[in-house]
Amino acid sequence: EQQVNVGLLGFGTVGSGVVRIIEAHQEQLLHQVGCPVQVKKILVKDFEKKRDVKVDPSILTNCPEDIIDNPEIDVVIEVIGGIDETKKYILTALKNKKHVVTANKDLMALHGGELLAAATENGCDLFYEASVGGGIPLIRSLVEGLSSDRITKMMGIINGTTNYILTKMSKEKASYEDVLKEAQKLGFAEADPTADVEGLDSARKMVILSTLGFSMKIHLDDVTVEGISKVGLDDIEYAKQFGYTIKLIGIAQRDNGRVEISVQPTLLPHAHPLASVNDEFNAVYVYGEAVGETMFYGPGAGQLPTATAIVSDLIAVVRNMRLGVNGKSVILPQFDRQLKEKDE
Ligand code: NDP
Ligand code: HSE
Repeated sequence: EQQVNVGLLGFGTVGSGVVRIIEAHQEQLLHQVGCPVQVKKILVKDFEKKRDVKVDPSILTNCPEDIIDNPEIDVVIEVIGGIDETKKYILTALKNKKHVVTANKDLMALHGGELLAAATENGCDLFYEASVGGGIPLIRSLVEGLSSDRITKMMGIINGTTNYILTKMSKEKASYEDVLKEAQKLGFAEADPTADVEGLDSARKMVILSTLGFSMKIHLDDVTVEGISKVGLDDIEYAKQFGYTIKLIGIAQRDNGRVEISVQPTLLPHAHPLASVNDEFNAVYVYGEAVGETMFYGPGAGQLPTATAIVSDLIAVVRNMRLGVNGKSVILPQFDRQLKEKDE
């Protein structure tokens, strides 16, 4: 069977994980999708950078057109981050009939509707499982596994960096600045960690979850946001003495046509299950009218967990290619098809 060629935009924490998994799983991939899958080109910024994952240097490029305009590339995986330039790359790739997998929650939260519409128009898949919850298959569970239900509330920890910081501050009395540096070194934080610590990353993820869970068009402005940069060791200690743990919690709920979404540091009783979600782990409760309470838990950031979500999306794309159903997938519905008024 004909080989599927992947173009990778970005070879940092997540991109390196994608190459690792695709290389390590060649045999399994062949079995799962029935054809070889290879990374053909990788976009980087800095050719001289020392990298943990070795590839043939001739596949590296600093010219995005070598991927998004390259007729040999079937699937583009976007893991560079950023919004405006990256949006252009994805739109060009889709126009050139390339399927796209992205981990970019910033972009999906702001322009998901437009990008998904472009994908459908071009008969392409655009999947983004890694954009929320790292390695937890949360988006698929929400729109596929729980599709028969009416979701009423989602609540949880959806940022690995801040949870790592709060955990280390609480358990080791480590300073905020030191643990933030550690989280950056471990590859959990965004290129600019302000988005993590000020709650914006969580807010963007809440936009994606609420749009999908509530079948509504939700904007970032709809989310009340407060991060953890003002939480000190003394706050954590006082809370502890009174039996509480501080966590950065995102909540989205709908009630009588009203939707409320917030991200803020929250006092949780020690016995609350979210209070014992530690380090970079994420956990999200999803409440449905029929199913009741469900909980999703797992690594919310980091190289291999995130790359797992991406390569699973890649497998879905290749399976769709073989079935000839790209762009028609029911796995991840389009925002615009689901659009309803907020006060339905
Ligand atoms: P990194 O900063 O580690 O990697 C970014 C990569 O993109 C680098 O290889 C960099 O090149 C390349 N790059 C950046 N800008 C350009 C440019 N203008 N032209 C060419 N190449 C460029 O980021 P991550 O891997 O951590 O994150 C990537 C994406 O995945 C982001 O959208 C992030 O939000 C998302 N994500 C990250 C998770 C994580 O745990 N880290 C989890 C879930 C999602 P070079 O190597 O040469 O510097
Ligand atoms: N910076 C993000 C986090 C990466 O810490 O959760 C995963 O989306």
